[in-house]
Amino acid sequence: MSELQKSGASAQRAAIVGTGSYAPARVMTNADFEKIVDTTDEWITTRTGIKERHFAAEDEATSDMAAEAARRALQAAGAAADEVEMIVVATITPDMPFPNTACLVQEKIGARKAFCFDIEAACSGFVYAAEIARRFVEGGALRTALVIGAEKMSSMIDWKDRSTCVLFGDGAGAAVIQPSRDGRGIRGAVLHSDGSLGELLMVPGGGSRAPASHESVDKGLHFLKMQGREVFKYAVNNMTAAALEVLEKTGLKKDQIACVIPHQANHRIIKAVADRVGIPLERFFINVDRYGNTSAASVIIALDEAVRSGRVRPGDLVMFLVFGGGFTWGAMVLEWSG
Ligand SMILES: CC(C)(COP(=O)(O)OP(=O)(O)OC[C@H]1O[C@@H](n2cnc3c(N)ncnc32)[C@H](O)[C@@H]1OP(=O)(O)O)[C@@H](O)C(=O)NCCC(=O)NCCS
Repeated sequence: MSELQKSGASAQRAAIVGTGSYAPARVMTNADFEKIVDTTDEWITTRTGIKERHFAAEDEATSDMAAEAARRALQAAGAAADEVEMIVVATITPDMPFPNTACLVQEKIGARKAFCFDIEAACSGFVYAAEIARRFVEGGALRTALVIGAEKMSSMIDWKDRSTCVLFGDGAGAAVIQPSRDGRGIRGAVLHSDGSLGELLMVPGGGSRAPASHESVDKGLHFLKMQGREVFKYAVNNMTAAALEVLEKTGLKKDQIACVIPHQANHRIIKAVADRVGIPLERFFINVDRYGNTSAASVIIALDEAVRSGRVRPGDLVMFLVFGGGFTWGAMVLEWSG
């Protein structure tokens, strides 16, 4: 039983008390893509804002990247691995169907006391996972949760499909969530899904519907498929709606938000959301140019960079805005405590 449970305390605010991230060493630029598909740096830059992305080594799996990000987050939080009571990994690229990636991370970092599970909400996964962890911590069920977004998107990219292969990247980010020490922390979140739109962005094969077979591989069913133009529209509309909803739910005004950390899929999506929500683009943290779309890892890598570079400071109100396959989307507001 945790100390909080023993004391009977409950409903104290939960806070992200440390972040870490990891980007694999190999960098692939738009010029590198010009050599493998019919594309140009100019097309990719103007349509997406992406200039380069990191890709994992062949023998580097999602759990390897996740574990490194976790070690860095624990260090930033001043927490030891054996204090961790729960590990949640958000990913659509687990090392394997099971054991879950969180269990693999537990073993790598030596967090023996933790219970571990993955959640899958595509690019929205980190905010879903953080909201789950926040509820455990706020309710007093545990004191230290490790929440990770990690992806090896290169494992599901169709390298012959120019309309998708240029968009994604690999990486991991992690956050330690504990009871707030100073009253700052997570203020509120909204989460949504619409399963009727799943076919617009999916990997159709490799699960129980179309298990791996020679035929499924020949048809490329284990590759990511996307109807980009449709996804674009829903991403803009739903992220805009989530931003306005979370402001209303938390009783905050737009001009109080110091930094918006949107899902890093496409610079044009981010700009359209900024215009519609009515928060200046300068207040959005953007690193899609250097990472591409790292799915569930995207917003936590971005928060880690924003914190380490001093862009987010103690007392700043930060808004996560996410959107992904499913469809899934949501927003979370927190006051950074540092
Ligand atoms: C994918 C995306 C960049 C494409 O941009 P777009 O302006 O919608 O472009 P279209 O899909 O209409 O394609 C326009 C043309 O560019 C071509 N094209 C696609 N990818 C290309 C590439 N990498 N290089 C050059 N041309 C490309 C298309 O074949 C098409 O050619 P056509 O008109 O001769 O058929 C854009 O739709 C997008 O960002 N969508 C959201 C994707 C996303 O972020 N998903 C994840 C959300 S979590």
